Amino acid sequence: MRILGLSCFYHDAAACLIEDGRIVAAVTEEAFSRKKHDSGFPKEAIRYVLAESGLNLSRDGMRGVDAVVFYDKPFRKFDRSIRSHVDRFPSGLGAFVRRLPSVINHELRLGKLLKDEVDYGGPLLYSEHHLSHAASAFFCSGWDEAGVLTVDGVGEWATSSWGAGRQNSLVLEGETRFPHSLGLLYSAFTYYLGFKINSAEYKVMGLAPYGQPNYVDAIRKMVHVKDDGSFRLDMQYFDFDAGENMFTRAFEQVMGQPARPLERPNQEVELTQFHKDVARSLQEVVDDTMVRLATHVVRTTGLPRLCLAGGVALNCVANGEILRRAPVDDVFVQPSAGDAGGAMGAALWAWNGLLKKPRLPRLPSVYLGPAYDDDAVQAVLDEAGARYVRLDREALLARTVELLAESKVVGWFHGRFEWGPRALGHRSILGDPRDPEMRDIINRKIKMREGFRPFAPVVLEERVSDWFQLDRPSPYMLLVAPVNPERPALPATTHVDGSARIQTISRDQDALYYDLVAQFGARTGVPVLINTSMNVRGEPMVCSPLDGWRCFMRTGMDALVIGSFVLLKEEQPAVVLKSAADEFGLD
Ligand SMILES: [Fe+2]
Repeated sequence: MRILGLSCFYHDAAACLIEDGRIVAAVTEEAFSRKKHDSGFPKEAIRYVLAESGLNLSRDGMRGVDAVVFYDKPFRKFDRSIRSHVDRFPSGLGAFVRRLPSVINHELRLGKLLKDEVDYGGPLLYSEHHLSHAASAFFCSGWDEAGVLTVDGVGEWATSSWGAGRQNSLVLEGETRFPHSLGLLYSAFTYYLGFKINSAEYKVMGLAPYGQPNYVDAIRKMVHVKDDGSFRLDMQYFDFDAGENMFTRAFEQVMGQPARPLERPNQEVELTQFHKDVARSLQEVVDDTMVRLATHVVRTTGLPRLCLAGGVALNCVANGEILRRAPVDDVFVQPSAGDAGGAMGAALWAWNGLLKKPRLPRLPSVYLGPAYDDDAVQAVLDEAGARYVRLDREALLARTVELLAESKVVGWFHGRFEWGPRALGHRSILGDPRDPEMRDIINRKIKMREGFRPFAPVVLEERVSDWFQLDRPSPYMLLVAPVNPERPALPATTHVDGSARIQTISRDQDALYYDLVAQFGARTGVPVLINTSMNVRGEPMVCSPLDGWRCFMRTGMDALVIGSFVLLKEEQPAVVLKSAADEFGLD
């Protein structure tokens, strides 16, 4: 039996295919369209996940798919959209009228799109937004029973929910409703600080350690949080429910300064201490609310393990605080905690929740997207005129370790594309975390971005406690913990407050990546590497070998290790370097 889960039309479109209770493949549409946060109908993602199950969309359409499950209920979302505008009538009428066609076109026509785009007329089920988030966390956790907490901007009406999962049943027992939303509060501040919403929230989190929590009281005027973590926004400060803006004049008056202008490419606006203090204050309020919510779920359900999903669960600082301060034994965070993950949750909700089929083990891998064999890689490199060497596994590892130890910045491309927003060693850029210059080098030469945030470290799972104050794996880079002060400094991966956003790697997760970190450790005494995503600023993570090659040529990466091939920038033929410089407008 094949079940196809879909999410689209709002943030990140994605498709996930489950075949007889096994997750065959899951991928975002942006991986193929190269449009960041692509929310359109995920036709290429569908084509790919079907292919992993031996189905050919062009030839056979969707024959072989038993059910399609959508991650939310479009009509309820439509209902919320109408009601929130009616409540404010006539003030928000203009915005509503402008949004209406897209709501109708996109959200009410899924059945027609499935027919027109992929020739599917079979069963179409609708989960609910937060149920999909919850299912994506609990049914992937491998735990027999656990509490569940989901927190995001907004689904249909709910903006957070909690409940309990037991075997193949998942019951949501409570929720907070729009417009009271921790995710939208975060987005309002993201916008206030001059960053793009639904995209650059992580920058606010990265900015916070540079500030002092001087504005907690100001923020608490606008959001009231009870002991159980339930919260209400005072809507005189916010405008997102029906207006054109995220917040009102009164918001800026309470904060004491007007909003920072929105950042644009090549036009950076100064980040002052005020902005850093605001980011820190917001993080404190979010941490505190999440810890209270987690505590409430654990106490009410009596279940000491907690599953997390929803966009706010990508806030790995708050996740770390939950582990430290809430009465939880352990947390599991769905690696694709944002809306793309809803595709996986929807399919699992149908498999476990509706059909009552047996549970899957703990999500065995985040490597659920496309892989490309050496022939495919070589064809791309040859077509481009690249100069490369082909090495066997041992030589490839030895050469890569040597490059890293020489402080080279190395693109590391192999295996299946990652599920979720983080590069976890298959589409990564790696570097030496001991090198004090490395953070600036990668920021300047490769990421072409502001340099205030450190990079994440990847560490051997069994050595995590030696290097960080963390006593458990963090395979999806969704936990922040303090670094161990007794160890030598790792300046490229340590934040100003002495914390790091950690990825642990075990041999079971990925043997080649594990061996690379282990061999770097054997050579240098530090079983840690910088791991950051392979992408150009403003673009999605690379997926195909052609994307990888283009990213290599467009940035200051020194070497690219792709499949069995090693390329050095300095060895590329002049004609290839020139044509890349022309194409990408490089100096
Ligand atoms: Fe969501």
